Amino acid sequence: MSLDQSWSAARWLAVAVVVLVASPTAVQTFCPSMCQCDDSLLEASCSGSRLDSVPILLNPSLRTLHLAHNRIASLRQSVSFYGELRSLDLSHNVLHSLGLLHFQPLGQLEWLNVSNNLVSSLEMESFAGLSSLTALDLSANRLTRLTDDLFAELPSLVTLILSGNKIQTVAAGAFDSLRKLHTLRLEDNNLGHVPSTALVPLAASLRSLYLSKNLIETLEDGSFRHLARLRFLGLNDNAIDRVDPLAFDTLVSLDALDLSFNRLDGVIEAFTASISPMTHLDLSGNMWRQLPANFLSGLPRLQTLNISYMEYLRSVDPAVFHLSKPGGNGSVSLSATSTSATSSVVVVKVLPIANLVMTNNALWNHLPSGLFHGLDAHLVRLDLSGNAFETLDMGRHHSTDWPHLNYLSVAYNPLQCNCSLLWLWNMLQQRNHSSAAVNGSPVVVNVTCSGPPPYSGLPLSSLNQSDLFCSLALPVSIIVLLVISWLVLVAGLVVLVIYWRRRRNARRESRLMIIKSSHHQYHHRDHSFQHHNGTSPILGGGGGVKHQQQYRMDSNNSPALSGHHHVGATIPQYYQHQNNLHHHFQQAQLVPSARDEYTYHCAGTIKRIPVTVV
Ligand SMILES: *[C@@H]1O[C@H](CO)[C@@H](O)[C@H](O)[C@H]1NC(C)=O
Ligand SMILES: *[C@@H]1O[C@H](CO)[C@@H](O)[C@H](O)[C@H]1NC(C)=O
Ligand SMILES: *[C@@H]1O[C@H](CO)[C@@H](O)[C@H](O)[C@H]1NC(C)=O
Ligand SMILES: *[C@@H]1O[C@H](CO)[C@@H](O)[C@H](O)[C@H]1NC(C)=O
Ligand SMILES: *[C@@H]1O[C@H](CO)[C@@H](O)[C@H](O)[C@H]1NC(C)=O
Ligand SMILES: *[C@@H]1O[C@H](CO)[C@@H](O)[C@H](O)[C@H]1NC(C)=O
Repeated sequence: MSLDQSWSAARWLAVAVVVLVASPTAVQTFCPSMCQCDDSLLEASCSGSRLDSVPILLNPSLRTLHLAHNRIASLRQSVSFYGELRSLDLSHNVLHSLGLLHFQPLGQLEWLNVSNNLVSSLEMESFAGLSSLTALDLSANRLTRLTDDLFAELPSLVTLILSGNKIQTVAAGAFDSLRKLHTLRLEDNNLGHVPSTALVPLAASLRSLYLSKNLIETLEDGSFRHLARLRFLGLNDNAIDRVDPLAFDTLVSLDALDLSFNRLDGVIEAFTASISPMTHLDLSGNMWRQLPANFLSGLPRLQTLNISYMEYLRSVDPAVFHLSKPGGNGSVSLSATSTSATSSVVVVKVLPIANLVMTNNALWNHLPSGLFHGLDAHLVRLDLSGNAFETLDMGRHHSTDWPHLNYLSVAYNPLQCNCSLLWLWNMLQQRNHSSAAVNGSPVVVNVTCSGPPPYSGLPLSSLNQSDLFCSLALPVSIIVLLVISWLVLVAGLVVLVIYWRRRRNARRESRLMIIKSSHHQYHHRDHSFQHHNGTSPILGGGGGVKHQQQYRMDSNNSPALSGHHHVGATIPQYYQHQNNLHHHFQQAQLVPSARDEYTYHCAGTIKRIPVTVV
């Protein structure tokens, strides 16, 4: 063996080794440099590779092929090389059409993404052979109409995405034969009304229907007729200003409805007249100026409610979340409560809302104090941020009234941090102090004071209780104290007055005694009589000469004191007996006069007795 020969043998060996070593990469010769191929997963990705066409040299057993973000303008026959494909992504290319019969050999294909292309028209034959296809994404193309039987070759289709086109018309038979379709996305098109007739074949299967961002103006009775399995209905961002009372009537499985950003401004009878099983409702961005009582009384299962971005909303009735009109009918709960409503305790049934979002209603500046009455037992999440509340009147509410609440936001309100927010302050303290905030006290986010001036911009939690001007924190006891001290004062005054009057009387009595004793000296004859029943026994004696003389006991006119004391005239004396029945008068001999009037004091009042003297 020559050296040359051995060298040659070694070379062959080396080649063999190279071939052996290179053998795995030998398959990669089918993988263009711009692609990444994984033959164990049977997956190839040629995304973003500036490809003009579908590569034909890839592993024919591929299950997954990514061709997104290329410049593929036409499919031609190339995709038919990959008969084992399950998933094909052709999104973000420049396809104008899917051609005819190109997918025919792809009987296993389940997922086809043609979104973000330039497809402006489709033929039934485009989809021929795709008998296993479950998801078809044709979003963001240039479709303007859906013709009859367009998807007739797709009996397995579950998800059909047609959003972001310019679809204006949907033929009555467009969705015929799509017996398994669960999800139909038609949002962001140019539909002027709900394609009710076209939806009828989907009655037994459809779960989710997206009609958002179209040009729909009215929801007529029976718009969603027969869609008994529909659970989600997206109608947001249309121009809906009218909802007929039976629009949602047959949606017996409806769980979530998005009506946000429309032009609704009246009572929606569809929400009050009949019962809906709905649990999620979004009414944001509509035109209501006020939300009346029983606004949603036909939604006894509502759990999530969003009423945000209401440009014109100024007032909300405290009974807006009540289920039933007192005294009315038409709601399930009412029959249960109507009997008890007649009794003094009115059972108010409210919507069982757990997640309430009422944010960014720029004109809504008053939170009615009864709004959460009854709701508090269910609330888990409450977002009131971005409104115009200067204060939050929770009425009787304290944090303990919200047993399940775990999130509360009142951020971006022009809150005045005064005593009215004490409940919130307490909530924040509670959270601070119980380190185990997880169980119990809710997360209260960003409560920032807008006033009064010294506190503007400060978080409420940074204030002390005294900063909230709660000096009258116990107003009831203060009032009680005030009332009691007032009463004591008044009683004291009364006692004083009585005492003073007694003293005055006593002084006067003693003065009379003095007068009497001074008269005694020259009175001729004492004549005493008993006075019965207010008439003088003297009167009974029959009067001769009439003469009137009045004696007053006050100091000025008292004959004794004034000095005008007529001789013979006497001053009636009065002795207050314990029983107050007998008044003894002492009378001196009178100047011949017919009648006298005796004035005397009796139990603090002045009485006059006409006396006729014989
Ligand atoms: C289709 O591709 C687009 C763009 O890559 C992507 O956003 C979309 O989610 C895909 N569709 C499906 C149904 O996965
Ligand atoms: C309304 O609130 C719900 C629940 O938090 C949320 O999913 C939805 O996006 C909100 N809608 C708007 C318009 O913000
Ligand atoms: C409600 O009252 C109206 C008449 O007032 C009646 O026609 C209707 O049947 C009542 N509905 C229920 C559920 O009782
Ligand atoms: C809290 O809210 C105020 C306005 O109310 C805002 O200025 C501030 O940026 C918010 N902070 C956070 C953390 O969101
Ligand atoms: C707190 O301020 C609000 C808004 O200015 C006011 O309506 C409320 O009466 C105040 N509360 C108290 C207790 O002063
Ligand atoms: C409560 O906690 C926050 C942050 O966790 C803190 O900024 C604030 O000062 C605390 N307040 C009190 C009263 O401790």
